[in-house]
Amino acid sequence: MKYIKLNDGNKIPLIGFGTFQMTDSVQCEKVVLEALAAGYRLIDTAQSYFNEEAVGNAITKSQVPREELFITTKVWVDNYGYEKTIASVKESLKKLQLDYLDLVLLHQPFANYYEAYRALVFLQKQGLIKSIGVSNFYPDRIADLCLFNEEQIMPAVNQIEINPFFQQQTAISVNHKYGVIAQAWAPFAEGRNNIFDNSVLKSIADKHQKSVAQIILRWLYHQDIPFCVKSSKKERIRENLNILDFELVAEDMLAITSLNLDKSSFFDHSSVEGPELIKKLVVQRAAK
Ligand SMILES: NC(=O)c1ccc[n+]([C@@H]2O[C@H](COP(=O)([O-])OP(=O)(O)OC[C@H]3O[C@@H](n4cnc5c(N)ncnc54)[C@H](OP(=O)(O)O)[C@@H]3O)[C@@H](O)[C@H]2O)c1
Repeated sequence: MKYIKLNDGNKIPLIGFGTFQMTDSVQCEKVVLEALAAGYRLIDTAQSYFNEEAVGNAITKSQVPREELFITTKVWVDNYGYEKTIASVKESLKKLQLDYLDLVLLHQPFANYYEAYRALVFLQKQGLIKSIGVSNFYPDRIADLCLFNEEQIMPAVNQIEINPFFQQQTAISVNHKYGVIAQAWAPFAEGRNNIFDNSVLKSIADKHQKSVAQIILRWLYHQDIPFCVKSSKKERIRENLNILDFELVAEDMLAITSLNLDKSSFFDHSSVEGPELIKKLVVQRAAK
């Protein structure tokens, strides 16, 4: 497994396993156990995925040595605020049955993220978190946080949507300018825009005798972009790891570049729709 060095000296695996939308605890535990057995070492969860307990059970049952694992969770917007964030991360640690987290991200760039960030800095100093970061911070927000956070501690990671339809070259370079590693979520755009039937991706896949999924992940790997990929199916969990026995050539990379629509397949966090939609989710999730 290849790792990328973070600005705090820690390292993150390039390949990560995501657990979004795995709310059934029995299924989630089984799938995460399968992922760990297949060889994934980065597991990505979040307070708002309502599956930290199931992920924790899988980690414990897997018996993979703790130092081999890289466990990420994300603080949900409702838990922003200095004291609230500290309490919520301690709760996440309990649910995950861990003494420390490798990475904690602020899930969204809205509400009181400054105080939440200050809490992450504190928790990192306490040794409860190895690396701290953010998610969905568009270029203006990441620049804002990097330039104005009081402690002048840069986030190590910004987890953002990156896939062939939304390649985010500008965002990635703005993050790099501040020493922040951009990690991809939804590398398959969750299957939207018929990504698995895309003719350009299919022809590259046929040429290499690989699947479209493997081409997309290899494209990220080739660029040293860490990613989190999710599947609930054993064969696909393994397929998505099996991306190192071939190389994409310049012509393939160029063809994939041409697929960029420069537009999110979900919604634009930097438009008014962003905070409005997240506010709705905050209300819905608070009722759970
Ligand atoms: N920070 C954030 O705001 C944020 C937002 C979204 C996601 N994330 C993280 O990023 C992770 C990945 O993103 P995602 O889960 O949204 O979407 P994704 O990984 O882009 O796509 C997952 C979808 O692709 C299918 N799939 C997986 N492997 C496949 C294969 N080899 N062939 C065909 N279909 C395949 C899965 O179906 P099956 O399960 O049926 O295989 C599932 O429907 C998440 O799980 C989460 O950890 C973070």
